Amino acid sequence: MENLVTAIGTPNIALVKYWGKRDVGLNLPYNSSLSMTLDESLNTKTSVLVSDRLQSDTIYIDGAQQKFDDAKEEKFALLAEVLNYMREAASSSSKVMIVSRNSFPSSAGLASSASGAATLVFALNEAFGLGLGQRELVIIARRISGSSCRGLMGGFVRWERGELPDGTDSYATQVADNAHWPEVVDLIALVSAEKKRISSSEGHRRTPSTSELFKVRPEIAERFAGMASRAIGQRDFQTLGEIIIKDSNNMHATMLDSYPPIMYLNDASRRIIYAIHDLNASEGRIVGAYTFDAGPNAHIITLKNDIPKIKAALQGIASEEKIIVAGQGSGPRVLDESESLIGKDPFGQIKM
Ligand code: DP6
Repeated sequence: MENLVTAIGTPNIALVKYWGKRDVGLNLPYNSSLSMTLDESLNTKTSVLVSDRLQSDTIYIDGAQQKFDDAKEEKFALLAEVLNYMREAASSSSKVMIVSRNSFPSSAGLASSASGAATLVFALNEAFGLGLGQRELVIIARRISGSSCRGLMGGFVRWERGELPDGTDSYATQVADNAHWPEVVDLIALVSAEKKRISSSEGHRRTPSTSELFKVRPEIAERFAGMASRAIGQRDFQTLGEIIIKDSNNMHATMLDSYPPIMYLNDASRRIIYAIHDLNASEGRIVGAYTFDAGPNAHIITLKNDIPKIKAALQGIASEEKIIVAGQGSGPRVLDESESLIGKDPFGQIKM
């Protein structure tokens, strides 16, 4: 068997967050979450070569070879599990070469692992010719990185908390596609490209086990997820914006309440929070709704017409070249052979 596939996928930004796992092994969340899949302004490209001529499985991310058994990076062991599962499902014994490249810094709260995992699962399905449906791919991606399961489809996506211990009812579905409300965009203000001190995997463990505040978080987030879905259905930005802001602050409050505390926001993040509230107050409406993942970079959800107002409000905090505006995307797709990151003779050249 020999097959070479290249796919492109994108991050998704949670508008109602996933934080804390009720089952760590299966990545089952305490609450449902809701996200927006971004367009290809930020992307992961992944080439997968499946070949009987390969001696072993290899993986390169952003130019560096990674080890599947790297003890410091627990994600790679999960990745190896998923790879073996998909290979078995294809009744194949071929080894694979995976070359993946992010167009943006990883581990800085820009959802590189989510983008990487969703793109990889999508590419493996194509490379092994498995023809798995979206529901199955979502559940496989969730095993590698919870948030990645929301990135297998476009527009607005809800990841269901589920009830079953085996996780078969914890999957993502589309709330609205990217044509429903295309005016909504994510203005990302990059304030740091530093690798985070505390991995989100560690945070997902620490917060539920040590934070008193977390006891009330799942119920609040579940309610927010329902309200946000309805606001999206009605294209009601005022309601959606308020939920986005409150949910981000609620999650970060539980992080700070963890022991030892987890703090992902920095001074620039806090200045952005104040600048956005000042802008919203002076306009008498929610112009921008900020949200932060496990990092200090701000995602300001806004409507296309208001981009200049947000940029003006950020002056002196984030310069123009540190701002990326991403619209909504439609999920991963296969790229043309000419875009492959693995050369024609894969046993020598890797284009990086
Ligand atoms: C703060 O999906 O990165 O971005 O399941 O361990 O891979 P793992 O965690 P991950 O957590 C993301 C947390 C978040 C919020 C969110 O995206 O919902």
